[in-house]
Amino acid sequence: MTNTIKLAEFSSVVFFVGAGMSAESGVPTYRGAGGIWTQYRYQDFACQRAFDADPQGVLDFHEVRREAVLTCKPHAGHYALAKLQAAHPRLHVITQNIDGMLQRAGVHVDAELHGSLWRMRCAKHGIREDAATGQFSTRRCPDCDAWLRPDITWFEDAVNEDVFTKAGELIATAELFISVGTSAAVYPAANFIPLARRAGARMIEINPERTEASTLFERCYALPASEALTTLFV
Ligand code: APR
Repeated sequence: MTNTIKLAEFSSVVFFVGAGMSAESGVPTYRGAGGIWTQYRYQDFACQRAFDADPQGVLDFHEVRREAVLTCKPHAGHYALAKLQAAHPRLHVITQNIDGMLQRAGVHVDAELHGSLWRMRCAKHGIREDAATGQFSTRRCPDCDAWLRPDITWFEDAVNEDVFTKAGELIATAELFISVGTSAAVYPAANFIPLARRAGARMIEINPERTEASTLFERCYALPASEALTTLFV
């Protein structure tokens, strides 16, 4: 690989995107300075037990997060990724992010591993899009009046098997795997990094910090996502 990486040289490319991608837009990451889990206990706001104990409190927390995301705008790196994807039909994007920032820049996301802040779910009646404003359009299922919960994989939840299967299939056939802005600390999502390596993909990491997975990459670019995505790839 030369300094500029020509994506057209790879039959299939996967970008594996974490919270660091949104950081430059002003969306806080989860870990590190200012991280969400340094300020809030997930046990109080991001697990089914918390929701069962205090649905209104948990929904309030997620509304605050939705409102915060809506004050943020995609950055140049988001738009660069959308442009690269438009030029490369087999450029796939798999994200752990729930904030929808990639989609707002026009990126097609193949797998939202941890769900979305912009969908709600009734245990009985399934998923409803809810993307208009910071406030949820309704907190109760119109069909059965049960509390709706965000369609997010909280701590202690099982992952969405269908979404993980699809992501696994894309990664198993990727010739180039590029991790952007993830600490690689949360499993099972982080298992996709060794999976890509075992499958024989060329491995690139973009993160200003070393991560738990850095040793699995051939190249680690200690750059912010916006700079890396606007300069490293054609
Ligand atoms: N560009 C690239 N990476 C950055 C930038 C930036 N401008 N700023 C910060 N980072 C890196 C940090 O160094 C860190 O390694 O982004 C990473 C963010 O890590 P986390 O906060 O742990 O986010 P992520 O890996 O996406 O978290 C995974 O944890 O709580 C759960 O469900 C939540 O999806 C989330 C999962």
